[in-house]
Amino acid sequence: MQIERLTKRFEPDAQPAVNNVSLAIDRQEFFALLGPSGCGKTTLLRLIAGFETADTGVIAIDGADMAGVPPYRRPVNIMFQNYALFPHMNVARNVGFGLRQERKPRGAVDARVVALLELVKMRALAARRPGQLSGGERQRVALARALAKEPKLLLLDEPLTALDRKLREEMRFELKHIHQRVGITFLMVTHDQEEAMSMASRLAVMNEGRIEQEGSPEHVYENPANRFVAGFLGAVNLFEGKVAGAEAGLLIVDSEAGRLAVAHSPLAAGTAVAVAIRPEKLRFMTARDTTTPNVLPGIVRTIAYRGEASTCQIELASGQLVRGTMSNGDGKAPVFLPGAALSLSFTPDAARLLQS
Ligand SMILES: Nc1ncnc2c1ncn2[C@@H]1O[C@H](COP(=O)(O)OP(=O)(O)OP(=O)(O)O)[C@@H](O)[C@H]1O
Ligand SMILES: [Mg+2]
Repeated sequence: MQIERLTKRFEPDAQPAVNNVSLAIDRQEFFALLGPSGCGKTTLLRLIAGFETADTGVIAIDGADMAGVPPYRRPVNIMFQNYALFPHMNVARNVGFGLRQERKPRGAVDARVVALLELVKMRALAARRPGQLSGGERQRVALARALAKEPKLLLLDEPLTALDRKLREEMRFELKHIHQRVGITFLMVTHDQEEAMSMASRLAVMNEGRIEQEGSPEHVYENPANRFVAGFLGAVNLFEGKVAGAEAGLLIVDSEAGRLAVAHSPLAAGTAVAVAIRPEKLRFMTARDTTTPNVLPGIVRTIAYRGEASTCQIELASGQLVRGTMSNGDGKAPVFLPGAALSLSFTPDAARLLQS
């Protein structure tokens, strides 16, 4: 699917809900669209499905321009944020609904419904009504119904948010597995960064109607393009400062936390930048070694135990609070308690430089 320069405004003077968005998604890809509430995710899906008309821009699916094509003629299906099942129909009838509407022969409809119920592991509950199902089971039925007409592209709007945390994590794997089996392009919307990163082969981060960055989860997490992406996709510590110069192939930044060295191509002295460092890339040290670069002395303020690791808040000499992750898997690592003095450090290639 190709989207080119798509813009949609609901009111003439309002900010566009979708602002000049271009996106190319390959066939059979699992793509995630990630962004905060109100950034335009549902609007973008509705434009693709044909429930809204764009002011400008092009949507093409499998090379065919969708301009003027009504929703029911598009090779697309959408699973809405609140996947409304028909309460008076049992599971099998819900799944077969769209096929019966198309007046497909009864035998063909029944065979397809059985295959879909097998796929989502709901065959045993085919005679139940939605009110007699758990949230996860209802979610599976909605998925089977959305797949029934064999769309080329399946749009999933927050498919897992109605589920509790444990079920949501299980369904992540199931949805991925189903995607692999059906060979359809999935475009999933979510505001959960962990969900997007663990399920999609590529993702895009959206903000205020625009796409800020797209790429593989690893690429976007490791190389965020700007402060918004860095902060939205995972936790990050930012040290605001100015470029001081270059030394031994490293860029030197004078920041609020002191002098920092970052592996980065040269930039003009005085350029305003932020040095970004992920919590898990900070090392905890007892020694107050101030001879190596990127050593930040501080005091542990709070520790939140999370099982496999603990998240710590450390107050630096400058007063800035930073976040670090202390692994609980290694019995040899030093253990710090609130109030302990320590030094944080990071290697020049663990940090990223942000200019916007
Ligand atoms: N029919 C409409 N009329 C006017 N404004 C609308 C309409 N639909 C959406 N909007 C506005 O467009 C913007 C984007 O809305 P959208 O529903 O696409 O956000 P979203 O990213 O899906 O948010 P959420 O994560 O909360 O579902 C919002 O500011 C919203 O108020
Ligand atoms: Mg939405």
